Amino acid sequence: MPATVVVGTQWGDEGKGKLTDLLAHDMDVVVRYQGGHNAGYRIVVNGEAFSLQLVPAGILNPNITPVIGNGVVVDPAVLLDELDRLGEKGVDTSRLVLSGNAHLIMPYHQELDRLTERFLGKNALGTTKRGIGPAYADKSSRVGLRVQDLLDPKIFREKLDVVLHEKNLVLTKIYNRPAMSAKDIAERYLDELTPRLAPMIGDTVAIVHDALDRGQRILLESTQATFLDLDHGTYPFVTSSNPVAGGACAGSGLGPRDITDVVGIAKAYVTRVGAGPFPTELDGELDALLVERGQEFGTNTGRRRRVGWFDAVMARQAARLNSLTEVALTKLDVLDTLEEIKVCVGYEARGVHYDFPPYHQSILHDVSPIYETVPGWQSDITSATKYDELPSAAQNYIKFLESVIGVPISVVGVGPGREQFVRPS
Ligand code: GDP
Ligand code: IMO
Ligand code: MG
Repeated sequence: MPATVVVGTQWGDEGKGKLTDLLAHDMDVVVRYQGGHNAGYRIVVNGEAFSLQLVPAGILNPNITPVIGNGVVVDPAVLLDELDRLGEKGVDTSRLVLSGNAHLIMPYHQELDRLTERFLGKNALGTTKRGIGPAYADKSSRVGLRVQDLLDPKIFREKLDVVLHEKNLVLTKIYNRPAMSAKDIAERYLDELTPRLAPMIGDTVAIVHDALDRGQRILLESTQATFLDLDHGTYPFVTSSNPVAGGACAGSGLGPRDITDVVGIAKAYVTRVGAGPFPTELDGELDALLVERGQEFGTNTGRRRRVGWFDAVMARQAARLNSLTEVALTKLDVLDTLEEIKVCVGYEARGVHYDFPPYHQSILHDVSPIYETVPGWQSDITSATKYDELPSAAQNYIKFLESVIGVPISVVGVGPGREQFVRPS
């Protein structure tokens, strides 16, 4: 049986959490394959809001096995804290399985993330300061500590001693910060956190393949998004992992032929948090209106998101980078009050027309969006339960987006609630 990937097609916060929760109803296993607690997603179930960072969004569905895959970077304290908060709300978290191959975020990763951002000054990336970049850097440099090391205190201490020696030189000699104590870190990770984590640690590659062999369905859940991808995003204003659908294999242990469906999540407009190019970015009244109506503040960091018109150039690129088989359009209701809506259908820069983003970022910084304007519907769509109940102008907007992206739109979000969506026929 097939595996489905859910991937963000813009710069994050498209509503992947809500869609994953929705799609999880038909799934048996939901795997997060990259990122860490830089992600933030909000899911509203029967009026109750759940804010998650690290746990797969599928956890809210009692019938699935939630898995944190090997591609994720895990801060164990954050994970336990999140599980406690879910437990207090009555969610059963006992089914969660954590890959032994996932890398650990250590206290020095967070500290170095903060220090590097400060060091970069006006060139700062605007990271979430969660230690994500430094943790993935150590993974690539082969000095990272993995979740499985927690189960072997001798190895954990040996590895920590070696790596912390170098980190402390950087902290003290370059940044003039106090050294960290290997003893304190080991006590916290091994003595305080491991007893609770140990029962969750498992062979997640075996879990996903056994599930496939039994004919079960797997959902692979991205955090971040296509244009925050380390290879395909707007580098260096990206995260340090590969959210693109291709990353789902490396981050879960499935092979490419196990994936049959790729659902791209796209907001009906675009948002971005942190620095980096954003061709369709708005300012002034429209910016304030969309931020207000869409509540565009980070679920995790509380930062105000930048907003802009839907960008079909980026969406087309996302369609090919991820082999999208369908698009789920979210937050259409946020556009309810607009008289007219613009969609970027191409770029122009230095006398050249672009249907796809120019590979050279200096050109991307220079592009002028080419807009088509479509009529708004100026009515409240939040109570629509069927596609036919949408005003014709809203249906036309959806059809127009479908035609400029070139991928069918299979779900449309009309509000934050789990039940607030319609399916185009
Ligand atoms: P993620 O990071 O992609 O999972 O998205 P976030 O949860 O960070 O941000 C999406 C926000 O939009 C959340 O607050 C959701 O509750 C909300 N949301 C999701 N779908 C819809 C929708 O169709 N309409 C509205 N108004 N809000 C939505
Ligand atoms: P979800 O899963 C939006 C952005 C940060 C910064 C850049 C690098 O909720 O969509 P990092 O801390 O990852 O090194 O920061 O990436 N960023 C996100 N933006 N949504 C996210 O996650 C993000 N995760 C990271 O703002 O620009
Ligand atoms: Mg988010």
